[in-house]
Amino acid sequence: MAASNILNKNPSAPCCQVDAQERIGENIPRLTDAPRKGVRSRSKKEQAMNFYRLSVVCTSIATALIFPMFAATAQSGTLATTPPMGWNSWNHFADKVTEADVRAAADAMVASGMRDAGYVYVNIDDGWQGRRDSHGNIQPNSKFHDMKALAGYIHSKGLKLGIYSSPGPKTCEGYEGSYGHEQQDANAFAKWGVDFLKYDLCSYMDIMKLHDPHQDPRKAIAMMQAAYEKMHQALINTHRTIVYSLCEYGVGSVWEWGPKVGGNLWRTTDDIRDNYRSMALIGFSQAGLEAFAGPGHWNDPDMLEIGNGGMKANEYRTQMSLWAILAAPLLAGNDLSKMDETTKSILMNKEVIAVDQDSLGVQGNRLGPPQIWVKPLTGGAKALAIFNYVTDDEAEPLTVQLKDVGFSGSVHARDLWAHKELGILHDSYTVTPPPGGVVMLRLWQ
Ligand code: GLA
Repeated sequence: MAASNILNKNPSAPCCQVDAQERIGENIPRLTDAPRKGVRSRSKKEQAMNFYRLSVVCTSIATALIFPMFAATAQSGTLATTPPMGWNSWNHFADKVTEADVRAAADAMVASGMRDAGYVYVNIDDGWQGRRDSHGNIQPNSKFHDMKALAGYIHSKGLKLGIYSSPGPKTCEGYEGSYGHEQQDANAFAKWGVDFLKYDLCSYMDIMKLHDPHQDPRKAIAMMQAAYEKMHQALINTHRTIVYSLCEYGVGSVWEWGPKVGGNLWRTTDDIRDNYRSMALIGFSQAGLEAFAGPGHWNDPDMLEIGNGGMKANEYRTQMSLWAILAAPLLAGNDLSKMDETTKSILMNKEVIAVDQDSLGVQGNRLGPPQIWVKPLTGGAKALAIFNYVTDDEAEPLTVQLKDVGFSGSVHARDLWAHKELGILHDSYTVTPPPGGVVMLRLWQ
Protein backbone atom coordinates (compact mmCIF):
# COMPACT_ATOMS: atom_id res chain seq x y z
CA MET A 1 0.00 0.00 0.00
CA ALA A 2 2.74 2.42 0.95
CA ALA A 3 4.25 2.51 -2.53
CA SER A 4 1.21 3.91 -4.18
CA ASN A 5 -0.18 5.86 -1.27
CA ILE A 6 0.29 9.42 -2.43
CA LEU A 7 -1.24 11.13 0.54
CA ASN A 8 -0.06 9.75 3.81
CA LYS A 9 3.53 10.88 3.78
CA ASN A 10 2.84 13.64 6.24
CA PRO A 11 -0.70 13.11 7.42
CA SER A 12 -0.35 15.29 10.45
CA ALA A 13 1.00 18.35 8.62
CA PRO A 14 -0.65 21.43 10.06
CA CYS A 15 -3.12 22.99 7.76
CA CYS A 16 -3.46 26.64 8.44
CA GLN A 17 0.06 27.92 8.55
CA VAL A 18 0.51 28.05 4.80
CA ASP A 19 -1.91 27.86 1.93
CA ALA A 20 -3.26 24.52 0.87
CA GLN A 21 -1.33 24.05 -2.36
CA GLU A 22 1.89 24.98 -0.68
CA ARG A 23 1.10 22.39 1.98
CA ILE A 24 0.51 19.76 -0.62
CA GLY A 25 3.66 20.73 -2.45
CA GLU A 26 5.75 20.01 0.63
CA ASN A 27 4.94 16.37 0.47
CA ILE A 28 4.36 15.32 -3.07
CA PRO A 29 5.22 16.56 -6.53
CA ARG A 30 3.24 19.51 -7.82
CA LEU A 31 0.61 18.89 -10.41
CA THR A 32 1.95 18.75 -13.91
CA ASP A 33 -1.22 17.92 -15.79
CA ALA A 34 -1.75 19.52 -19.15
CA PRO A 35 -4.59 22.03 -18.99
CA ARG A 36 -7.94 20.67 -20.15
CA LYS A 37 -8.94 21.51 -23.70
CA GLY A 38 -10.22 25.04 -23.93
CA VAL A 39 -8.65 26.11 -20.66
CA ARG A 40 -5.97 28.72 -20.95
CA SER A 41 -2.35 28.25 -20.01
CA ARG A 42 -2.15 29.33 -16.41
CA SER A 43 1.51 30.18 -16.28
CA LYS A 44 1.09 33.95 -15.80
CA LYS A 45 -1.37 33.51 -12.98
CA GLU A 46 0.74 30.78 -11.45
CA GLN A 47 3.84 32.94 -11.57
CA ALA A 48 1.99 35.68 -9.78
CA MET A 49 0.55 33.24 -7.29
CA ASN A 50 3.92 31.73 -6.59
CA PHE A 51 5.13 35.14 -5.56
CA TYR A 52 2.25 35.55 -3.17
CA ARG A 53 2.61 32.05 -1.84
CA LEU A 54 6.14 32.89 -0.93
CA SER A 55 5.43 36.32 0.38
CA VAL A 56 2.06 36.09 2.06
CA VAL A 57 2.95 34.80 5.48
CA CYS A 58 2.19 35.90 9.00
CA THR A 59 -1.37 36.50 7.99
CA SER A 60 -2.66 36.42 11.52
CA ILE A 61 -0.71 39.57 12.30
CA ALA A 62 -1.96 41.29 9.19
CA THR A 63 -5.48 40.16 9.83
CA ALA A 64 -5.39 41.55 13.34
CA LEU A 65 -4.26 44.90 11.97
CA ILE A 66 -6.84 45.04 9.25
CA PHE A 67 -9.97 43.51 10.77
CA PRO A 68 -11.17 46.73 12.38
CA MET A 69 -11.41 48.30 8.90
CA PHE A 70 -14.32 46.10 8.03
CA ALA A 71 -17.72 45.87 9.53
CA ALA A 72 -19.38 42.48 9.07
CA THR A 73 -22.83 43.00 7.65
CA ALA A 74 -26.12 41.25 7.78
CA GLN A 75 -25.84 40.13 4.15
CA SER A 76 -23.36 37.33 4.82
CA GLY A 77 -25.14 36.04 7.92
CA THR A 78 -28.49 35.33 6.29
CA LEU A 79 -27.29 33.58 3.17
CA ALA A 80 -25.89 30.14 2.44
CA THR A 81 -26.91 28.69 5.77
CA THR A 82 -25.90 25.35 4.26
CA PRO A 83 -23.14 24.98 1.62
CA PRO A 84 -24.40 26.31 -1.75
CA MET A 85 -25.36 23.66 -4.30
CA GLY A 86 -25.65 24.09 -8.04
CA TRP A 87 -23.68 23.95 -11.28
CA ASN A 88 -20.88 26.04 -12.74
CA SER A 89 -19.93 26.23 -16.41
CA TRP A 90 -16.13 26.34 -16.04
CA ASN A 91 -14.96 22.75 -15.53
CA HIS A 92 -16.63 21.49 -18.68
CA PHE A 93 -17.26 24.45 -20.99
CA ALA A 94 -14.43 26.82 -19.92
CA ASP A 95 -14.81 30.18 -21.66
CA LYS A 96 -16.58 28.62 -24.63
CA VAL A 97 -19.80 28.62 -22.62
CA THR A 98 -22.86 29.98 -24.42
CA GLU A 99 -26.32 31.05 -23.36
CA ALA A 100 -27.66 27.86 -24.95
CA ASP A 101 -25.34 25.78 -22.72
CA VAL A 102 -26.60 27.61 -19.65
CA ARG A 103 -30.25 27.14 -20.60
CA ALA A 104 -29.56 23.46 -21.32
CA ALA A 105 -27.92 23.11 -17.90
CA ALA A 106 -30.99 24.64 -16.25
CA ASP A 107 -33.30 22.34 -18.20
CA ALA A 108 -31.22 19.31 -17.26
CA MET A 109 -31.10 20.30 -13.61
CA VAL A 110 -34.86 20.06 -13.52
CA ALA A 111 -35.30 17.02 -15.78
CA SER A 112 -32.60 14.94 -14.08
CA GLY A 113 -33.91 15.58 -10.59
CA MET A 114 -30.87 17.58 -9.55
CA ARG A 115 -32.93 20.61 -8.61
CA ASP A 116 -35.09 18.48 -6.37
CA ALA A 117 -31.96 16.98 -4.84
CA GLY A 118 -30.90 20.50 -3.80
CA TYR A 119 -28.83 21.89 -6.69
CA VAL A 120 -30.21 25.37 -7.36
CA TYR A 121 -27.49 27.74 -8.58
CA VAL A 122 -26.80 27.88 -12.31
CA ASN A 123 -23.50 29.72 -12.38
CA ILE A 124 -21.93 31.22 -15.49
CA ASP A 125 -18.16 31.41 -15.02
CA ASP A 126 -15.64 33.33 -17.10
CA GLY A 127 -16.43 34.06 -20.76
CA TRP A 128 -19.82 35.78 -20.76
CA GLN A 129 -18.49 39.36 -20.77
CA GLY A 130 -18.48 41.71 -23.73
CA ARG A 131 -17.43 45.34 -23.90
CA ARG A 132 -18.71 48.25 -21.81
CA ASP A 133 -21.03 50.72 -23.50
CA SER A 134 -20.23 54.44 -23.70
CA HIS A 135 -21.55 54.87 -20.14
CA GLY A 136 -19.34 52.10 -18.83
CA ASN A 137 -22.15 49.59 -18.47
CA ILE A 138 -20.98 46.00 -18.88
CA GLN A 139 -22.59 44.12 -21.76
CA PRO A 140 -22.62 40.38 -22.39
CA ASN A 141 -20.69 39.16 -25.44
CA SER A 142 -22.25 37.74 -28.57
CA LYS A 143 -22.62 34.26 -27.02
CA PHE A 144 -25.12 35.74 -24.59
CA HIS A 145 -28.04 37.87 -25.61
CA ASP A 146 -30.23 39.16 -22.86
CA MET A 147 -29.01 38.44 -19.34
CA LYS A 148 -32.25 39.60 -17.74
CA ALA A 149 -34.23 37.23 -19.93
CA LEU A 150 -31.80 34.43 -19.12
CA ALA A 151 -32.23 35.11 -15.40
CA GLY A 152 -35.99 35.09 -15.88
CA TYR A 153 -35.80 31.71 -17.60
CA ILE A 154 -33.67 30.26 -14.81
CA HIS A 155 -35.90 31.70 -12.10
CA SER A 156 -38.99 30.33 -13.85
CA LYS A 157 -37.58 26.85 -13.24
CA GLY A 158 -37.12 27.43 -9.53
CA LEU A 159 -33.38 27.92 -9.98
CA LYS A 160 -31.00 30.83 -9.31
CA LEU A 161 -28.47 32.54 -11.55
CA GLY A 162 -24.80 32.99 -10.72
CA ILE A 163 -22.28 35.15 -12.55
CA TYR A 164 -18.54 35.75 -12.50
CA SER A 165 -16.27 38.80 -12.41
CA SER A 166 -12.92 39.99 -11.10
CA PRO A 167 -11.72 42.88 -8.93
CA GLY A 168 -9.03 43.36 -11.59
CA PRO A 169 -9.41 45.10 -14.94
CA LYS A 170 -9.42 41.70 -16.68
CA THR A 171 -10.60 38.27 -15.66
CA CYS A 172 -8.28 35.29 -15.68
CA GLU A 173 -9.33 34.55 -19.24
CA GLY A 174 -8.82 38.18 -20.34
CA TYR A 175 -12.44 39.34 -20.34
CA GLU A 176 -13.66 42.60 -18.83
CA GLY A 177 -13.28 42.76 -15.03
CA SER A 178 -15.00 45.05 -12.53
CA TYR A 179 -12.00 47.23 -11.58
CA GLY A 180 -13.21 50.83 -11.33
CA HIS A 181 -16.78 49.75 -12.12
CA GLU A 182 -17.65 47.80 -8.99
CA GLN A 183 -20.91 49.53 -8.12
CA GLN A 184 -21.95 49.78 -11.76
CA ASP A 185 -21.41 46.04 -12.24
CA ALA A 186 -23.13 45.13 -8.99
CA ASN A 187 -26.09 47.25 -10.11
CA ALA A 188 -26.14 45.51 -13.48
CA PHE A 189 -26.02 42.06 -11.87
CA ALA A 190 -28.86 43.00 -9.51
CA LYS A 191 -30.91 44.45 -12.35
CA TRP A 192 -30.49 41.29 -14.39
CA GLY A 193 -31.58 39.15 -11.41
CA VAL A 194 -28.26 37.58 -10.43
CA ASP A 195 -28.26 35.61 -7.18
CA PHE A 196 -24.59 34.57 -6.83
CA LEU A 197 -21.31 36.27 -7.69
CA LYS A 198 -17.97 34.51 -8.00
CA TYR A 199 -15.31 37.22 -7.73
CA ASP A 200 -11.95 35.98 -9.01
CA LEU A 201 -8.70 37.80 -8.14
CA CYS A 202 -6.96 37.31 -11.54
CA SER A 203 -5.43 40.56 -12.84
CA TYR A 204 -5.96 42.34 -9.55
CA MET A 205 -2.63 40.73 -8.67
CA ASP A 206 -1.04 43.07 -11.24
CA ILE A 207 -2.67 46.06 -9.53
CA MET A 208 -1.28 44.86 -6.22
CA LYS A 209 2.20 44.71 -7.68
CA LEU A 210 1.84 48.13 -9.27
CA HIS A 211 0.86 49.68 -5.97
CA ASP A 212 3.54 47.93 -4.02
CA PRO A 213 6.51 46.91 -6.14
CA HIS A 214 8.22 45.63 -2.97
CA GLN A 215 5.28 43.32 -2.48
CA ASP A 216 4.99 43.48 1.26
CA PRO A 217 2.81 40.54 2.35
CA ARG A 218 0.76 42.60 4.78
CA LYS A 219 0.02 45.19 2.12
CA ALA A 220 -0.89 42.43 -0.31
CA ILE A 221 -3.45 41.03 2.10
CA ALA A 222 -4.78 44.49 2.92
CA MET A 223 -5.26 45.23 -0.77
CA MET A 224 -7.05 41.96 -1.40
CA GLN A 225 -9.31 42.53 1.56
CA ALA A 226 -10.09 46.06 0.40
CA ALA A 227 -10.91 44.83 -3.12
CA TYR A 228 -13.26 42.12 -1.85
CA GLU A 229 -14.83 44.48 0.66
CA LYS A 230 -15.46 47.03 -2.07
CA MET A 231 -17.57 44.60 -4.06
CA HIS A 232 -19.21 43.39 -0.85
CA GLN A 233 -20.40 46.93 -0.14
CA ALA A 234 -21.47 47.35 -3.76
CA LEU A 235 -23.59 44.20 -3.48
CA ILE A 236 -25.16 45.43 -0.26
CA ASN A 237 -25.98 48.74 -1.93
CA THR A 238 -28.04 46.91 -4.57
CA HIS A 239 -30.40 45.59 -1.85
CA ARG A 240 -30.51 42.28 -3.73
CA THR A 241 -29.63 39.06 -1.94
CA ILE A 242 -26.51 37.80 -3.70
CA VAL A 243 -24.30 34.98 -2.45
CA TYR A 244 -20.70 36.20 -2.51
CA SER A 245 -18.05 33.69 -3.54
CA LEU A 246 -14.42 34.76 -3.05
CA CYS A 247 -11.97 33.20 -5.45
CA GLU A 248 -8.34 34.02 -4.69
CA TYR A 249 -7.07 30.46 -4.46
CA GLY A 250 -6.61 30.43 -0.67
CA VAL A 251 -3.82 33.00 -0.77
CA GLY A 252 -3.20 34.86 2.48
CA SER A 253 -5.30 32.43 4.53
CA VAL A 254 -8.56 33.81 3.21
CA TRP A 255 -10.47 31.53 5.58
CA GLU A 256 -9.34 33.83 8.41
CA TRP A 257 -10.78 36.99 6.88
CA GLY A 258 -13.35 35.85 4.30
CA PRO A 259 -16.39 36.48 6.52
CA LYS A 260 -15.19 39.99 7.35
CA VAL A 261 -15.35 40.97 3.69
CA GLY A 262 -18.77 39.41 3.26
CA GLY A 263 -17.70 36.08 1.78
CA ASN A 264 -20.24 33.27 1.96
CA LEU A 265 -17.64 30.90 0.53
CA TRP A 266 -14.01 31.20 -0.41
CA ARG A 267 -11.76 29.02 -2.47
CA THR A 268 -9.08 27.41 -0.35
CA THR A 269 -6.88 26.14 -3.18
CA ASP A 270 -5.80 26.60 -6.75
CA ASP A 271 -7.92 25.10 -9.53
CA ILE A 272 -9.03 21.49 -9.50
CA ARG A 273 -8.41 19.22 -12.50
CA ASP A 274 -10.37 16.21 -13.61
CA ASN A 275 -7.99 13.56 -12.33
CA TYR A 276 -7.62 11.65 -9.08
CA ARG A 277 -4.32 13.21 -8.08
CA SER A 278 -5.59 16.77 -8.36
CA MET A 279 -8.89 16.01 -6.64
CA ALA A 280 -7.24 14.01 -3.85
CA LEU A 281 -4.48 16.55 -3.26
CA ILE A 282 -7.02 19.29 -2.86
CA GLY A 283 -9.64 17.37 -0.93
CA PHE A 284 -7.42 15.59 1.56
CA SER A 285 -5.40 18.75 2.23
CA GLN A 286 -8.42 20.49 3.78
CA ALA A 287 -7.81 19.00 7.22
CA GLY A 288 -7.45 21.75 9.78
CA LEU A 289 -9.68 24.27 8.03
CA GLU A 290 -12.84 23.07 9.77
CA ALA A 291 -12.65 25.81 12.39
CA PHE A 292 -13.31 28.42 9.71
CA ALA A 293 -16.49 26.98 8.20
CA GLY A 294 -20.04 27.33 9.41
CA PRO A 295 -23.51 28.47 8.37
CA GLY A 296 -23.15 31.44 6.01
CA HIS A 297 -19.42 31.01 5.44
CA TRP A 298 -17.83 27.93 3.88
CA ASN A 299 -14.44 26.72 2.78
CA ASP A 300 -14.56 25.97 -0.95
CA PRO A 301 -12.10 23.35 -2.22
CA ASP A 302 -13.30 24.08 -5.79
CA MET A 303 -15.97 22.54 -7.95
CA LEU A 304 -16.94 18.96 -8.62
CA GLU A 305 -15.46 17.10 -11.57
CA ILE A 306 -17.94 14.22 -11.31
CA GLY A 307 -19.09 13.18 -14.78
CA ASN A 308 -16.30 14.88 -16.71
CA GLY A 309 -14.67 11.57 -17.60
CA GLY A 310 -11.17 11.84 -16.15
CA MET A 311 -11.78 9.68 -13.09
CA LYS A 312 -13.26 6.27 -12.35
CA ALA A 313 -16.65 5.99 -10.70
CA ASN A 314 -15.08 5.05 -7.34
CA GLU A 315 -12.83 8.10 -7.55
CA TYR A 316 -15.80 10.35 -8.25
CA ARG A 317 -17.55 8.76 -5.25
CA THR A 318 -14.50 9.78 -3.26
CA GLN A 319 -14.91 13.39 -4.40
CA MET A 320 -18.62 13.44 -3.55
CA SER A 321 -18.05 11.84 -0.14
CA LEU A 322 -15.06 13.97 0.79
CA TRP A 323 -16.74 17.20 -0.28
CA ALA A 324 -19.78 16.20 1.81
CA ILE A 325 -17.62 15.46 4.85
CA LEU A 326 -15.98 18.86 4.31
CA ALA A 327 -19.35 20.64 4.16
CA ALA A 328 -18.05 22.00 0.86
CA PRO A 329 -20.18 23.77 -1.74
CA LEU A 330 -21.46 21.16 -4.21
CA LEU A 331 -21.16 22.83 -7.60
CA ALA A 332 -21.34 20.25 -10.37
CA GLY A 333 -18.95 20.99 -13.23
CA ASN A 334 -20.03 18.54 -15.91
CA ASP A 335 -22.32 18.73 -18.93
CA LEU A 336 -25.65 18.11 -17.21
CA SER A 337 -27.39 17.48 -20.50
CA LYS A 338 -25.27 14.36 -21.11
CA MET A 339 -25.13 12.50 -17.79
CA ASP A 340 -24.98 8.72 -17.61
CA GLU A 341 -26.73 6.82 -14.84
CA THR A 342 -23.55 6.41 -12.79
CA THR A 343 -22.92 10.15 -12.81
CA LYS A 344 -26.49 10.82 -11.79
CA SER A 345 -26.31 8.28 -8.99
CA ILE A 346 -23.19 9.97 -7.61
CA LEU A 347 -24.32 13.58 -7.91
CA MET A 348 -27.78 12.73 -6.63
CA ASN A 349 -26.96 10.43 -3.77
CA LYS A 350 -29.39 12.06 -1.39
CA GLU A 351 -27.92 10.38 1.67
CA VAL A 352 -24.49 11.83 0.94
CA ILE A 353 -25.99 15.21 0.06
CA ALA A 354 -27.74 15.16 3.44
CA VAL A 355 -24.33 14.88 5.12
CA ASP A 356 -23.08 17.92 3.21
CA GLN A 357 -26.24 19.90 3.91
CA ASP A 358 -26.67 18.90 7.54
CA SER A 359 -28.04 21.89 9.40
CA LEU A 360 -25.46 21.67 12.17
CA GLY A 361 -23.10 23.17 9.59
CA VAL A 362 -19.91 21.64 10.95
CA GLN A 363 -17.08 20.79 8.57
CA GLY A 364 -15.66 17.32 9.22
CA ASN A 365 -12.05 16.43 9.74
CA ARG A 366 -9.77 13.43 9.51
CA LEU A 367 -9.06 11.25 12.51
CA GLY A 368 -5.46 10.40 13.31
CA PRO A 369 -5.41 7.72 10.59
CA PRO A 370 -5.38 9.82 7.44
CA GLN A 371 -7.90 7.72 5.53
CA ILE A 372 -10.66 8.10 8.09
CA TRP A 373 -12.77 11.24 8.21
CA VAL A 374 -15.68 12.13 10.49
CA LYS A 375 -18.32 14.85 10.32
CA PRO A 376 -20.62 15.63 13.27
CA LEU A 377 -24.31 15.78 12.31
CA THR A 378 -27.42 17.03 14.02
CA GLY A 379 -28.78 14.95 16.89
CA GLY A 380 -25.40 13.48 17.83
CA ALA A 381 -25.08 11.37 14.67
CA LYS A 382 -21.83 11.28 12.70
CA ALA A 383 -20.85 10.65 9.13
CA LEU A 384 -17.84 8.39 8.79
CA ALA A 385 -15.91 8.10 5.55
CA ILE A 386 -13.18 5.53 5.08
CA PHE A 387 -11.14 6.23 1.97
CA ASN A 388 -8.71 4.08 0.06
CA TYR A 389 -6.01 6.23 -1.50
CA VAL A 390 -4.61 3.35 -3.48
CA THR A 391 -5.77 3.55 -7.07
CA ASP A 392 -3.61 0.91 -8.75
CA ASP A 393 -3.12 -1.81 -6.20
CA GLU A 394 -4.88 -4.35 -4.05
CA ALA A 395 -7.22 -2.75 -1.55
CA GLU A 396 -6.49 -3.40 2.12
CA PRO A 397 -8.87 -3.64 5.07
CA LEU A 398 -9.06 -0.66 7.39
CA THR A 399 -10.39 -0.73 10.94
CA VAL A 400 -12.05 2.13 12.73
CA GLN A 401 -12.45 2.12 16.51
CA LEU A 402 -15.82 3.59 17.42
CA LYS A 403 -14.36 5.28 20.49
CA ASP A 404 -12.03 7.22 18.15
CA VAL A 405 -15.09 8.44 16.27
CA GLY A 406 -16.50 9.68 19.58
CA PHE A 407 -18.94 6.90 20.49
CA SER A 408 -18.87 4.81 23.62
CA GLY A 409 -20.77 1.57 23.26
CA SER A 410 -22.50 0.28 20.17
CA VAL A 411 -23.96 2.33 17.31
CA HIS A 412 -26.49 1.99 14.52
CA ALA A 413 -24.91 2.15 11.09
CA ARG A 414 -26.15 2.79 7.57
CA ASP A 415 -24.05 2.51 4.42
CA LEU A 416 -24.67 5.68 2.37
CA TRP A 417 -23.44 4.30 -0.95
CA ALA A 418 -24.92 0.79 -0.67
CA HIS A 419 -28.10 2.40 0.73
CA LYS A 420 -28.54 -0.27 3.34
CA GLU A 421 -28.69 -0.67 7.09
CA LEU A 422 -25.68 -2.40 8.61
CA GLY A 423 -27.38 -3.04 11.93
CA ILE A 424 -25.53 -2.48 15.19
CA LEU A 425 -21.77 -2.06 15.31
CA HIS A 426 -19.82 -2.94 18.46
CA ASP A 427 -16.43 -1.41 19.31
CA SER A 428 -14.99 -1.29 15.82
CA TYR A 429 -15.73 -1.54 12.12
CA THR A 430 -13.49 -3.14 9.53
CA VAL A 431 -13.98 -2.66 5.82
CA THR A 432 -12.03 -2.74 2.56
CA PRO A 433 -12.93 0.30 0.44
CA PRO A 434 -12.36 -0.20 -3.28
CA PRO A 435 -9.20 1.25 -4.90
CA GLY A 436 -9.52 5.03 -5.10
CA GLY A 437 -12.89 4.68 -3.46
CA VAL A 438 -14.70 5.08 -0.18
CA VAL A 439 -17.12 3.51 2.25
CA MET A 440 -19.35 6.09 3.89
CA LEU A 441 -21.55 5.45 6.88
CA ARG A 442 -24.01 7.33 9.02
CA LEU A 443 -23.61 6.36 12.67
CA TRP A 444 -25.97 7.12 15.51
CA GLN A 445 -26.89 5.85 18.97
C1 GLA B 1 -9.61 30.89 -12.23
C2 GLA B 1 -10.58 30.21 -11.26
C3 GLA B 1 -11.36 29.15 -11.99
C4 GLA B 1 -12.12 29.77 -13.16
C5 GLA B 1 -11.15 30.49 -14.07
C6 GLA B 1 -11.86 31.30 -15.13
O1 GLA B 1 -8.61 30.01 -12.66
O2 GLA B 1 -9.88 29.66 -10.19
O3 GLA B 1 -12.28 28.52 -11.10
O4 GLA B 1 -13.08 30.64 -12.65
O5 GLA B 1 -10.31 31.40 -13.35
O6 GLA B 1 -10.97 32.01 -15.93
